[in-house]
Amino acid sequence: VGFPSFGLRPRLLAALLLSSVVTLAVAALALLSPLEHRLRVDGESAVFAAIASTRNEFAEIPGDRPGGLPDLTRVIQTAHVLRRRAGGEVTVLDRTLAVVTPRGSAVSPLPGFRTQALRALRTGHGTHELVGDELIVADPIAIADQSHVVVVVKRLQYVASAVNVVRKAFLEAAAAGLGIALLLGIALTTTLLRRLERLRDATRELERLGLDARTPIDDGGDEIGELSRAFASMQSRLQRHEAARRAFVATASHELRTPLTSLNGMLELLEDDLNANHLDIEDARERTARAREQSGRLSHLASDLLDLSRLDARVDLRSEPVELGELCRAVAAEFELRALEHAVSISVAQPSAACWIAGDPGSVARIVRILLDNALRAAPAGSVIDVAAVAGQPCSRVTVADRGPGVPPAEREAIFERFHRGAATAGHSGFGLGLAIGRELAERMEGSLELIDGQPADRPTGACFVLSLQALRVSELQESTR
Ligand SMILES: Nc1ncnc2c1ncn2[C@@H]1O[C@H](COP(=O)(O)OP(=O)(O)O)[C@@H](O)[C@H]1O
Ligand SMILES: [Mg+2]
Repeated sequence: VGFPSFGLRPRLLAALLLSSVVTLAVAALALLSPLEHRLRVDGESAVFAAIASTRNEFAEIPGDRPGGLPDLTRVIQTAHVLRRRAGGEVTVLDRTLAVVTPRGSAVSPLPGFRTQALRALRTGHGTHELVGDELIVADPIAIADQSHVVVVVKRLQYVASAVNVVRKAFLEAAAAGLGIALLLGIALTTTLLRRLERLRDATRELERLGLDARTPIDDGGDEIGELSRAFASMQSRLQRHEAARRAFVATASHELRTPLTSLNGMLELLEDDLNANHLDIEDARERTARAREQSGRLSHLASDLLDLSRLDARVDLRSEPVELGELCRAVAAEFELRALEHAVSISVAQPSAACWIAGDPGSVARIVRILLDNALRAAPAGSVIDVAAVAGQPCSRVTVADRGPGVPPAEREAIFERFHRGAATAGHSGFGLGLAIGRELAERMEGSLELIDGQPADRPTGACFVLSLQALRVSELQESTR
């Protein structure tokens, strides 16, 4: 059972309103009830202070004889003074709770009046009680050496009205605050949602129209802006990939078609000859040889394309110790026959120390084969191709140098691109994939494949390719063979 899913706007607005309401409610609670309490306490202590300030005056009132009734006029005067100071009705009672002043008045009808007066008389301490908004304060006093009690009844309506004023102001502020929160929330969610919707529409368009759909533009400096820029950069990256892929497929199919067409043509001619029953055996032999050459090219291309597709699919290469000197000798041996045919010799330098690197042995051999294949094609008859493995830190290297025409400066980087054949060597049977495969393989093993600048003085012409791979230290080597 899932929660019903609300959109972003109601959720954000609800959160905003809820937090505003909770904040205001907590603030109101924290403010209003202490305020009310404070005002009451202040009212009480004001009354007690007023009583205390007239205590002496009451005490000094003389009786008409020792132990007799107090001077009533003075009692009334002092009660008036107290009334002014306390701001409430003042009643003076004797110890039988008979009203002394104001004369002739009945005891106040307030429910707590008598109780308070009695309690003050009994305990000898001041007491107070709140009945509705009326405060009853009773305090024992002495008049003419006899115990009396003075009761002040004061309406505390100002407490309620002060609290009401504050409450009203609070409610108004709360309403204004909530209104502003709501407006801000709506404004904020509206722009946020509009931007998100633009992004969503762009994504849908991408789904519908493919990579050529228009890129969403949102130059906001916030997270949505970032998302939109990430989206745009992803799209343009995918577009570049897609363009490269299309170009690759187009070139690859074109490259496949050429040998296939010529293969077809030769087979057709051969078939015609066979059908016409006048087969020239020399002619047929030559055609078969050329057909074989074309099918060889095709299988060469197929294996190059397979290599590239493996690289593109990011198939994992192995990483194990490989000794470059031994590997160079083995690969050079594979080319001995071809070298002999071209009257070229391949010299593999004896390394001073073992050159261990971490890599995929098959791929390293493949790169050296690609370099030797190119070198053999470039090397003039009678020349030497130098192959050397050189140990180093952090990289060990294999160099393959020939004494052919070299690579023109304008082509030094381009020859590493897929399907790029040098202008001078365009006639030969390669497809321009070898160095591209070699470089990608080297990079996948965290190494590099470069055509190095500047030729040694003893080798005025020719190309020198360097394959660098992560060297293994002896300690690492022992670890990996353990
Ligand atoms: N040793 C070399 N000497 C001169 N040019 C070279 C050498 N190796 C490679 N090249 C140039 O680099 C181009 C690309 O080589 P490569 O990627 O192996 O493709 P391919 O050998 O199929 O032409 C070659 O066509 C050639 O022009
Ligand atoms: Mg090649």
